[in-house]
Amino acid sequence: MKAKELSNRTALVTGAGTGIGAAIAERLAARGVRLVIVARDAARLEGVAERLHAQHQVDVLTVPLDLSLRDAPAHLAAQLKATGTELDILINNAGAAQVGRIAKADPADLRALIDVNATAVAETTALFLPAMVARGRGAIVNIASTAAYAPAPYNAVYAASKAFVLSFTQSLWLETRGTGVRVVAVSPGATETAMNTRHIPGKRQPEQVADTVMAALRSRAPAVVDGRLNTVQAFAFSRLMPARTAARITGRFFGRQLDQDPSRHN
Ligand SMILES: NC(=O)c1ccc[n+]([C@@H]2O[C@H](COP(=O)([O-])OP(=O)(O)OC[C@H]3O[C@@H](n4cnc5c(N)ncnc54)[C@H](OP(=O)(O)O)[C@@H]3O)[C@@H](O)[C@H]2O)c1
Repeated sequence: MKAKELSNRTALVTGAGTGIGAAIAERLAARGVRLVIVARDAARLEGVAERLHAQHQVDVLTVPLDLSLRDAPAHLAAQLKATGTELDILINNAGAAQVGRIAKADPADLRALIDVNATAVAETTALFLPAMVARGRGAIVNIASTAAYAPAPYNAVYAASKAFVLSFTQSLWLETRGTGVRVVAVSPGATETAMNTRHIPGKRQPEQVADTVMAALRSRAPAVVDGRLNTVQAFAFSRLMPARTAARITGRFFGRQLDQDPSRHN
């Protein structure tokens, strides 16, 4: 999708109240894209909408919604239909993380995590893709993670949910070839947001990830990793190492987080 094709289009960005989603919404608004932004915190969404409208004179519709709820994607589609909103770009960015041992986890929490990180991504895609294919144009960006490229002990469900997003999107990339719809997974590594406040060398900023998303829209790749170091790491973990080596390395990293924060599932 070229820069000039963006103006006067409409994009839905989930999880746009903070962090990477807010940065992506800003980049799109700066190119004249109308926005629909979704997250649970209505006041924060309103704040983002007011700022983007004031700075870039674009219309921004806010839809406060918990995407871990089973009927949330259908509710979202109904809301857009009711307002006569046709989507050109879908950015599935909302996500949650949870570090801890599976043996100590609440199964209901795991389900909620999978539902927002994975189920909602597949369902919103299935809801909005047909109209894009019918129009012969559109774009879907699913935000995965470098955690998708390796097993991650003590972060197991998060990494598995992101592996789902990566695999799902790569498959869809092929299914949609020749339809005019651009599909790509973008995987950030450690990025400075509310989800990740730890000091990690080489940590990226949300605006850098947003720039990678904009570049990914213009490229043809099925999957893109944000940042050179993250790209090398994802390649090494997924292609060069046996799973047991990768699990030992990532397990040491997430295990240290358990040690540092006793409130997590020790
Ligand atoms: N930060 C990193 O190091 C990193 C690394 C790799 C991948 N990622 C991915 O990047 C994406 C954005 O995360 P971030 O780092 O920008 O974190 P963030 O600042 O915590 O943003 C997460 C966004 O998702 C929304 N959200 C969370 N649960 C939701 C739910 N049940 N329903 C609707 N919205 C929900 C949050 O808003 P509400 O709380 O208002 O709902 C928030 O706007 C996520 O998919 C994350 O997995 C982040």
